[in-house]
Amino acid sequence: MSKSYHIITYGCQMNEHDSENLAGMLEAEGYEFVEDPYAADLVIMNTCSVRENADKRFFGVLGQFKKLKKIRPDFILCVCGCMPQQPRVVEEIKKSFAWVDIIFGTQNIAKFPELLHQRVTTGKKQYSIIKDNPVVEEHLEPKRLYKHKALVNITYGCDNFCTYCIVPYTRGREKSRTVKDVRCEIEKLVADGVKEVMLLGQNVDSFKDPGTGERFADLIRSLNKVEGLERIRFMTSHPKDISDDMISCFTSCDKLCHNIHLPVQCGSDRVLKRMNRHYDRAKYMSIIAKLREECPDITISTDIIVGFPGETEEDFEQTLSLVNEVEYDSAFTFIYSPREGTPAARYEDQIPEEIKHERFDRLVDDINRISLEKNLQYQGKTYDVLVEGRSKTDDGAWAGRTNGFKLVNFTAPEEMGKLDGKTVKVEITEAKTFSLYGVIAE
Ligand code: SAH
Ligand code: SF4
Ligand code: F3S
Repeated sequence: MSKSYHIITYGCQMNEHDSENLAGMLEAEGYEFVEDPYAADLVIMNTCSVRENADKRFFGVLGQFKKLKKIRPDFILCVCGCMPQQPRVVEEIKKSFAWVDIIFGTQNIAKFPELLHQRVTTGKKQYSIIKDNPVVEEHLEPKRLYKHKALVNITYGCDNFCTYCIVPYTRGREKSRTVKDVRCEIEKLVADGVKEVMLLGQNVDSFKDPGTGERFADLIRSLNKVEGLERIRFMTSHPKDISDDMISCFTSCDKLCHNIHLPVQCGSDRVLKRMNRHYDRAKYMSIIAKLREECPDITISTDIIVGFPGETEEDFEQTLSLVNEVEYDSAFTFIYSPREGTPAARYEDQIPEEIKHERFDRLVDDINRISLEKNLQYQGKTYDVLVEGRSKTDDGAWAGRTNGFKLVNFTAPEEMGKLDGKTVKVEITEAKTFSLYGVIAE
C-alpha cells in the first residue's frame, strides 16, 4: 500500500515553491498527497519566521501532532523552512517537541529524500541545518500547485539586512542562478503547459548572472523570447536597486505583465533610514513616476510596516500621505513585530501595542478605500483574463487574473467547457475591494 503525505506551508512564495519541490520529491518516492494532515503517514511543516504570531502558531500546530504520534508511532513529522534556521528554535524543538522526526532548513531541501531514507531505515531522528549553502540546487522536479502558472526562483537569500527583518538570517547570503538555467527551466515548463511564470527573489533587482554578469533586465529580455510563454511576472522589487533599464522592459517586452510589487515599508525618511532601506521618499516617488510614464496602465502594490521603533505620529502621517499620493492598487500591511537577532528588536523606543493597532486600522481604512476606487474604474470595461480554475468563492464561476494581477471571478456558458489555462475576454460588471466580477465577453 502506498504511503500518504501532507505539507503545511506558511510564509512567502519562496516557501510555497520549496513545498512544491518537496511534494515532487515525495511523489518520486511513491507517496500520495492527502487533504487531511491527520490522516497522512508523513507531514512536513514548512515554516515562516517573519512575524511573531507565525512563531506562536507554529508551536501550537506542532503540539497537536503529539497525540497522533502516540497512536501511530510510524507517523513521520518533519519541520523545515525558516524557523529551524534559528538555533533557538531547534533547541526548543529538541527540548519540548521531541516527537519531531526530521528537521532541515532552507539551505538543504534537496537533502530531504536522503534524510527520509535515513529516518526510515535506522529509525533515528534526523536533524540537519546548514547556515549558508553556497551551492544553488538545480534540476529539482516540483509538483506544481497550478497547471498553467509556475513559480521560478531567480535568486536565493538576501543581503540587504533591513533592520526589522529576519530573512537574511534564515535564507543566507544572496545567490543568483544563471540566465541559462532559468531560461532552460522555463522552456521545460512551457512545454508542460505553463503560460505564466512568476520570477522569485527577495530582491529581484539585484539579480546578477554569476557567469556572464547579466542583470535582471537582461534576464527579462531573454525570457521574453521564450516561445509559447504568455506572461512574465516577478517579485519582489527593491526601490534601492530597480534600474531604468528594468523599467524600460515594460515597453520593450510584450510578455512582461503591467504590474509591480514595490515595497515602500514607510513614508518617513527618518524611519526609512533606521530601517536601512537605502532610499528616501523622493527617490521612491520618482520611481513610481517613471513606472507610470513608461507604462501608464501599470498596477502597483506594496508592503508597509506600521509601528517600527521610534515611529512618531508625524512619521505615520507621512506613510498615510504617501499611500494617498501613490494610490496603490493593493497593499500588504504589517504591524511591526520584533524579531530576535535583528537590530530593530534591540531599539529602545518600541511602540506600545495599542498605538500600533490604532495606526494599523487607520492605514488599512485608507488602503481599502483607494483599492475600491481603483477597482471601480474597471467596471464596464473588458479585460483579458488568464483562467486559473473554478472560483473559490463563487460556485459555478471561474477565476483568473488580468495582466495587472487583478483577481476576476466571472461566469461563462457551460457549453464553453473547461476554461483552465485559457485567456478569455471578460467584461467587468462589479468591483469590490479585493476582486472584480464579470461575464465572459466572447
Ligand atoms: N524581500 C521582500 C519581502 C520580505 S518579507 C522585500 O524586501 O520587500 C515580506 C514583508 O514582511 C516585508 O516587506 C515587510 O513589510 C514585512 N516584514 C518583514 N519583517 C517584519 C517584521 N519584523 N515585522 C513586521 N513586518 C515585517
Ligand atoms: Fe527582508 Fe529587506 Fe531582504 Fe526584503 S530586502 S527580505 S525586507 S532584509
Ligand atoms: Fe517567512 Fe522565510 Fe519567507 S521568514 S516570509 S518564509 S523567507
